[in-house]
Amino acid sequence: MGEHDEILDELAGLAADGVAELQRIDDLKDLGSAASRFLGKQSRLADLKAGLRDLAVEHRSTLGEALNAARTQLEDAVEVRRQHLDELAVGRRLAAERLDLTEELGRERNGHLHVITQTWEQLEDVFVGMGFTVADGPEVETDWFNFEALNLPPTHPARSLWDTLYLDSDDLDGIAAEQLLLRTHTSPVQIRTMIDAVRSGTGPPIHVVCPGRVYRRDTADATHLPVFHQIEMLVVDHDVSMADLAGTIEAFTKAYFGGDLTSRLRPSYFPFTEPSAEVDISQPDGSWLEVGGCGMVHPNVLTACGLDPEEWSGFAFGFGIDRLAKIRHGVEDLRDFVANDIRFLEQL
Ligand code: DAH
Repeated sequence: MGEHDEILDELAGLAADGVAELQRIDDLKDLGSAASRFLGKQSRLADLKAGLRDLAVEHRSTLGEALNAARTQLEDAVEVRRQHLDELAVGRRLAAERLDLTEELGRERNGHLHVITQTWEQLEDVFVGMGFTVADGPEVETDWFNFEALNLPPTHPARSLWDTLYLDSDDLDGIAAEQLLLRTHTSPVQIRTMIDAVRSGTGPPIHVVCPGRVYRRDTADATHLPVFHQIEMLVVDHDVSMADLAGTIEAFTKAYFGGDLTSRLRPSYFPFTEPSAEVDISQPDGSWLEVGGCGMVHPNVLTACGLDPEEWSGFAFGFGIDRLAKIRHGVEDLRDFVANDIRFLEQL
């Protein structure tokens, strides 16, 4: 066998082995170095090509063709393998980046505001929307703010309307027994607001609401709690009337409960208003639920706060926040608000 045949054999082997090796490569970087080993300047193929010029002329063209065929075979094998590895890489990347949108993660359970707090905040929003500002006062009050300035002197029989919790004030310097109490209603904030306005010269006119916690010596039942919440409303201006009061209550009812519910006033008695009324709000079933009291601020109350009743008039109401929440959410028993049963609280 002459040199020429040997080279042809070698070329055939080179191409076959090369293609087989290339097909086993599974990394793009390895493929790059194998390609330059088989096809680059230092490759056996390049050597053989360089050796062509030393061969007899009659062999050059057959060998040249065989060289080109081997080169093409190897180049094709590199290209096929590169495409295959590229596709694998893309597939791997897509798999890694794939978002499984059907996956369900157990949702984190967040707490939320208690329904009474939600109601309190919604009521503030409604009244702020109607042009009122929000005021507050202390839960521990003196007899004067809670009763006396509200036209309830110490022996007034109507004091029995409020079963009052008194603080043991033995160790409080200068405060006589039965002078400190847990406020029985938010009405003392009316007094504080009027006195502040007069002292600071910021009013009247006064338009405030004061939501807050109040206390009574009461046993809890479906419609009473010993600790509950009220929202007080007070307007003091020139020449305001009972019609303004009724209109304000109706506007509030529509704003808070929506257009279906309405309000009505029933004549009643409170020492701090004249005339006075109870406020009922209609229920979806056609019945009425009492939510609080209202009236025209009594002249004695204006006077106690340093306002001239000849010049100023006022109207006020005090509503039970818990009762408003009861109506809005159809709660049967006020005690459910404080029983802390998670199955109840989660629904509201
Ligand atoms: N403070 C009264 C109560 O707790 C409710 C009330 C009645 C408030 C008439 C008022 C009012 O502002 O004008 O029973």
